[in-house]
Amino acid sequence: MKPTPWERVYRDGRDLYTVNRVPGTRVYGETLTTVDSVEYRAWDPFRSKLAALLAKGAPPDVLGGRPATVLYLGAAHGTTVSHLSDLWPEAMVFAVEKSPTSFARLLALARTRPGLVPILADAQLPERYQADVGPVDLLYQDVAQRNQAGIFTENANACLARNGRGILMLKVRSVTQQRPTAAVVREARTALQSAHLRVLFETPLVPFSREHVALAVAPA
Ligand SMILES: C[S@@+](CC[C@H](N)C(=O)[O-])C[C@H]1O[C@@H](n2cnc3c(N)ncnc32)[C@H](O)[C@@H]1O
Repeated sequence: MKPTPWERVYRDGRDLYTVNRVPGTRVYGETLTTVDSVEYRAWDPFRSKLAALLAKGAPPDVLGGRPATVLYLGAAHGTTVSHLSDLWPEAMVFAVEKSPTSFARLLALARTRPGLVPILADAQLPERYQADVGPVDLLYQDVAQRNQAGIFTENANACLARNGRGILMLKVRSVTQQRPTAAVVREARTALQSAHLRVLFETPLVPFSREHVALAVAPA
């Protein structure tokens, strides 16, 4: 198991791993590997867009250092959230999910992982959770919605700290089936910039996801 440019992320060959915070348990059927009495969980880039972004060679500070607070929109069952909780056991990770079915599994996951705070809410209404969450160091969004950029900018406006960092996993085909990817990404960049967010870089997630482009931002 070797260190990587990303703090607390490890590599064995091409596979990425985090240290399992709850040894002996799997979250989504991932492989567990023990080396020198430390248990690692495989972080599958085909299942987690954040792992895909790292596997595509994201810069070492892609997540803006070690965040104390994270707002994660579209947590689903907690696949990616669980790895964030492995990476930063000391952080508060607020995980917003609107589907009650997915939320039930997220809640069960949170019971085993202190600092993981599930919120059953619609990310289109950040005013519902803004007061509980406060300004966060990292805003991460993975919701397949038509108005993804708008949801992201509203949440950044409500909850992103001045020196924070944001990652928008833009699902192009949820925005439109008609227009080319480049036009959709350009439009999203314009929306981010209009909301005073500086785009740091953009990375298509092929071959792990053909439909997603990651956009990393910081307040301008
Ligand atoms: C692709 S899945 C997320 C997978 C997850 N990010 C991961 O990597 O483990 C998208 C999730 O976003 C949720 N979602 C979609 N629109 C939402 C909204 N407006 N507010 C909150 N959650 C939303 C869906 O219910 C779904 O669970």
